[in-house]
Amino acid sequence: MKKLIAANWKMNKTAGESALFIGEFKKIIKNEKNADVVICPPFTALSAVSGELKGSGIKLGAQNMHFEDFGAFTGEISPLMLKELGCQYAILGHSDRREIGEKDGLINKKVISALKKGIVPILCIGETHEQRIKDETQDVLESQLTGCLKGVENISNVVVAYEPVWAISKGNPSQKAATKEDAEEAHLFIRKLLEGMYNEEAAKKTRIIYGGSMKPENAKELLAMPNIDGGLVGNASLNPKSFAEIVNSANK
Ligand code: PGA
Repeated sequence: MKKLIAANWKMNKTAGESALFIGEFKKIIKNEKNADVVICPPFTALSAVSGELKGSGIKLGAQNMHFEDFGAFTGEISPLMLKELGCQYAILGHSDRREIGEKDGLINKKVISALKKGIVPILCIGETHEQRIKDETQDVLESQLTGCLKGVENISNVVVAYEPVWAISKGNPSQKAATKEDAEEAHLFIRKLLEGMYNEEAAKKTRIIYGGSMKPENAKELLAMPNIDGGLVGNASLNPKSFAEIVNSANK
């Protein structure tokens, strides 16, 4: 399966800075044909990035969205608005948003709405440090996955991002990622859950990507694991050189 490497810039980069990044990144990227590359800038930079990406094959994504198309939802952005700007992906249920109160039920509405609009949800799931030490990882992954995928028929239209919350850098470049063995174990578990919820064929076709301190130093070994189909990259995606190195290390 072709890998998917997505940049999650979080609340970083103005529109001007984002456009400069894309110009730089396009010059140094080598084998983007070996991977689908998605850039998820802040909402305010979507338009500028969309313009810069034209004709490049690199795709655009949002970091969140509301589930309704329009209405009295102050401060929200709808899937229609994202579509108009050329967004093909949306990160949904990121732990940064779960931390401020997003629950599986709301994330589920967003996933359904994105699919209806032809936006590919990058659905984030993952356990916290406390949950891991209490040996609750598998229960957490199962309840987040079943809660967020209620009513989703075609699972292979969804990208699942396994993001162990304890491995996310929060901007700290020396934060350690999950080991390739621990990540692979969780990915295999998620694949098996999908097999049970759907079927073997559908589970095999669904991309399960890893997020949490992926960087040039560890991307190659993580991406070489059989059940790791790509990466969701935060901190290391803010620099065009390090993000390009990650993309270039993705296998065919
Ligand atoms: P990180 O972020 O690569 O900085 O750990 C990943 C994410 O939160 O999506």
